[in-house]
Parts: sequence; structure tokens; C-alpha cells
Amino acid sequence: MADMIEDGTVIDGVHYHQHDIVIVGAGGAGMRAAIEAGPNARTAVVSKLYPTRSHTGAAQGGMAAALANVEEDNWEWHTYDTVKGGDYLVDQDAAEILAKEAIDAVLDLENMGLPFNRTADGKIDQRRFGGHTREHGAAPVRRACYAADRTGHMILQTLFQNCVKLGINFFNEYYVLDMVMAEVDGKKQPAGVVAYELATGDLHVFQAKAVIFATGGFGKIYKTTSNAHTLTGDGVGIIWRKGLPLEDMEFYQFHPTGLAGLGILLSEAARGEGAILRNASGERFMERYTPTLKDLAPRDIVARSMALEIREGRGAGPNKDYLYLDITHLEPAVIDEKLPDITEFARTYLGVEPYTEPVPVLPTAHYAMGGIPTNTNAEVLQSNTEIVPGLYAAGECACVSVHGSNRLGTNSLLDINVFGKRAGINASEYVKTAPWVPLPENPAKGIRDLLDQVRSGDGTERIAVIRKELQDSMDRNAQIFRTEESLKEVTELIETLRARYKNIQIQDKGKRYNTDLLEAIELGFLLDLAEVVVYSARSRHESRGGHMREDYPKRDDENFLVHTMAYLTGDPESAEAGEHIRLDWKPVVITNYPPMERKY
Ligand code: FUM
Repeated sequence: MADMIEDGTVIDGVHYHQHDIVIVGAGGAGMRAAIEAGPNARTAVVSKLYPTRSHTGAAQGGMAAALANVEEDNWEWHTYDTVKGGDYLVDQDAAEILAKEAIDAVLDLENMGLPFNRTADGKIDQRRFGGHTREHGAAPVRRACYAADRTGHMILQTLFQNCVKLGINFFNEYYVLDMVMAEVDGKKQPAGVVAYELATGDLHVFQAKAVIFATGGFGKIYKTTSNAHTLTGDGVGIIWRKGLPLEDMEFYQFHPTGLAGLGILLSEAARGEGAILRNASGERFMERYTPTLKDLAPRDIVARSMALEIREGRGAGPNKDYLYLDITHLEPAVIDEKLPDITEFARTYLGVEPYTEPVPVLPTAHYAMGGIPTNTNAEVLQSNTEIVPGLYAAGECACVSVHGSNRLGTNSLLDINVFGKRAGINASEYVKTAPWVPLPENPAKGIRDLLDQVRSGDGTERIAVIRKELQDSMDRNAQIFRTEESLKEVTELIETLRARYKNIQIQDKGKRYNTDLLEAIELGFLLDLAEVVVYSARSRHESRGGHMREDYPKRDDENFLVHTMAYLTGDPESAEAGEHIRLDWKPVVITNYPPMERKY
């Protein structure tokens, strides 16, 4: 064992650092954790991006909290909506925490300086969002606190400024590619992480008593997505490769309103402010599907309804393959004040003027409901009940599970704040008494070997080609509608792509700013995660929330009111696709809301 290596040591070109807590990821969850951890323990945030470029900045419409500033509301209604919106796969104890702690989470941000939109009397203003209702589904309620249509951007900036004020140590453009684990009293625990520094190509080992993963989602397994290029699931992939489980990976959310052909997000806030979805003949089709909530039904239902409209020939455009988001009846002043960014996106990317023309839209891959399983203290689980001491996860990479099989809009910015804070507090407590976990000998060896292998590869395959084939097939076969046949097709493709991935060649063989090399590594994570998504989806023989199996069109509570827990069991290189994955099931926590049929 190398055991402890002093901070600042360089051995064989590898730089060693020591912090009580290492947070991987500088989006909302990571920085919210850092604000709790920083004042209490030596904390480092290690991020593949400069913090203000993290994907939280792309979140638009709002953050849910039952403040009741503009209409009667309470956290119990919020809990109910979250559970029902998630098609009853939500762990209800976690949803209660989310809804109760939402109030303080918003007030924390207000105190940190976040410029929320205000009511005439100076309170934080609130707007409607899909699935958020008063009196258990009676009608939409104004629950989303917002800053125009750039709420995530404001949260990210506010958290970053507060981290800077606290003097948090950031390591920006450091790609964490591995977690180092060691055995303590017969149990595996994290001893730190290994990161690749983009500017120099050097490797860094961060030894830590506690590691918090806050690395976001993996939307780049799909072609049409609202996710940034960087959302390749590295954190989730690292956990997977360590043999730890991933929960509910089959549940992926498709946001109804991506810009047609591009996938860029047009916030649900538009519909919250009164926008209407229309088909080619101008019909407000959501009235037929969900007569009470109409365009403000939960996303899984709206996205599915849109897909059906197109399938049944009512789509717009020369190929009848998109629908319209119509805001032409809103006052231009309201549009400018509340929806400035998304209307600009429509002008810039599609050349459409939203004041006067409906905007072409199509569902876009948006959010992973599944991920790294945690309990409500943000502690990572290694089985249905047992935690990994010293390991935490929060935000989109984690699965608590507050979103079940379908997340409500604005519960994500809430999730990162509530569970990011919890991760920071609990990790700080943990490191007060936890001993250092000894580093194994040469902790960066595995990653150095992998990087060398990719850099020196002289095969005939190109990264971009394999990635495109994966994304195209995921869009075709594992999107809103799925069948055994479609899932089998993409499974077989992933198996061949894995084989071809071994035969890649990158063009840039250098050390500095080698994004070519990193894209190759990221593609490895994408292949791993796409396979888990598809394998889990093939095994869930029912339809629930974001997972619609046309060959099993009904929800089946008798057999599937359970979380999926996927484990890597063997060597993916030597097994047939899927054979190295084992599935287990975890009970759903039900407190106050027994599963009911969802009606909106
Ligand atoms: O539509 C939106 O503004 C997205 C919000 C969310 O995903 O929570």
C-alpha cells in the first residue's frame, strides 16, 4: 500500500493531493454540497468544466417550492404531485423530504443573492409547471420560483459566487476518470479519485476521506437531446465499473418541447405562461389526452401524446414530423419579460418569430430518472440497504428516488439544492471521525494504461462514427416507445460497437488539450450506460412513466412496483452483450399514497 502520500507530492509524473472531501462535478449539486462542506472540512471540487459552464446553467423554467406566494399551496400537495407524476415509483419518504425542504432551499438561494422574479409586492413570483397542482390534481398551481427562463443559469452563478466567497478549492477542466477504492474491515470504501488535467495531460490523484459524485446525466446516449456535449455520464460510468449498482436506468425523460430537428430546450415555462401545443391543423390536441391539465400534464404523458399525434399523421411540416408550440396569443411584453431566452433560440436556430409564428417542436431526451442509488442522506448504496461508507451522490447522477419513473419539471433544480446540501452536510459529519483510507500502490495505473492504450491505438474506427451510430439507434429504438424487438436491435448494435471500439484510432496523439483522447474515453462510458439502459428496459415488462413498452402497454403494480438494480457481474469484454449484467429489484417506499390509476 502507498497509504498516505503528502499533498503536493509528484511521483512518476502523477500529482498527489489530499482533501477531507472531494466533490466531483461543479454543477448545482456539487457546488451546493461545497457550500456546506467547505467551511467544515478541507474540500476540493474537481470538474471537467469551468463551473459556470456546467449544465445546470441550461435549466430554464424554475425551481419548485410550495411557498404559496401567489396561490394557496403546501408541501403535502407538492409531495403528492411528485409521487403521482413519477407514476408511483417514487420513494415517498424521499419525496416528502424534497417537498418540505424545498421552502428552505429557495430561501437559502434568495439569501445567497439569487435574483428571482418578484410579485408586485416584492415576494418571489411563482409560475405554473406540468403536473404541479392544487388539492391533489384539481387544477394547475403556481409553484415554480423562477428567474425569467434562465433559472438554472442564475442558480449556477449564485452558487459559484458563494463558493468563491468561501474560498472553495476548484480544480477546473480536470476530468475525473476513476475512483480508487480500498478494503477497510472487509468493506470497500473510496480512497480518492484520479483525474486527467486537460491543459497538461497530467494525472492527479486526489486522496479523500469522502467522495461526493455530482456529475450530472448522460443524455448524449441519444442523438436528439437537450443535454450539452459534456453529459457523457462519466461519474455514473465510474460507479458502474466499480461493481456498484445503478438504479432505474430504464427511465429516461423526453421533454416535450425541444426545437424540432435540434433538441435544444424550449422551457415548459412557456406552457406555464399559457403557450399551447398544436398539431398541423391547429388543434389543441392535449385537450383530448388530459382534459383537466391539458398542456400542463406531466412530461411523459405530453411527450407520448405528441409522438402519437405524429404517428397518426397529424404532425406538421413537409414530412409531418413535428408539432407546434404556440405563444402568439401572449403579449410581446410578457414574452420579453418571462421567456426572453427561448424565444431568442427560436429566432436564432429556426428563423421563426415567436410573437407571430408557432414554433416547431419535438420531444428531446432531457433527464435520467435513474442513476447511482442513494438513501436520503445522499449516501451511495452498494445493495438494497447497505451503504458504501464515505461515498455520496447527488443531483441527476443520483437516484434517491424522488422522481420515480417520470420527473416533474422544476423538481430537478430543487433536487440538486436539497440533496446537494444534504450530501455536503453528511460528508462533513462523516469526515470528522472517519480515518483516511490507505491508497493502493500506484493508484493511477489503471487510468494511465487506459489512456496509453487509446492514445497508441492504430485501428480503423473513428470515435465520431461509433458515437453517431449509437445515438441514432438509441433514438430509433429506445426512445418514447419501446418494444422487445426495438430493444433487441439496439442491444445487438451496442455489442458490435463495443467490439469496434477496441479498434479505434484517435488523431491527436499529444498531451495538451487533447479533447480527442477524452472523447474516446467518454464514448466508453456512453456505451456502458446505453447498454444498462437498454438491458433494464428489456427486463421491465410493463409501461410506467417514461418507460413505454408497446408490447406491455399497462402498468403492472403486481410485478413491477419495484426499483431496478443493475450490477456489473463480469468482464464486458469477454461476455456477450448483456451477459455481464445482473438485475435485482428493490422495494418502493410507500408512506401515504397507495398507487392509483393516473388521471389528469
Ligand atoms: O422546461 C424546463 O424549463 C425544464 C425544467 C426542468 O427540467 O425541470
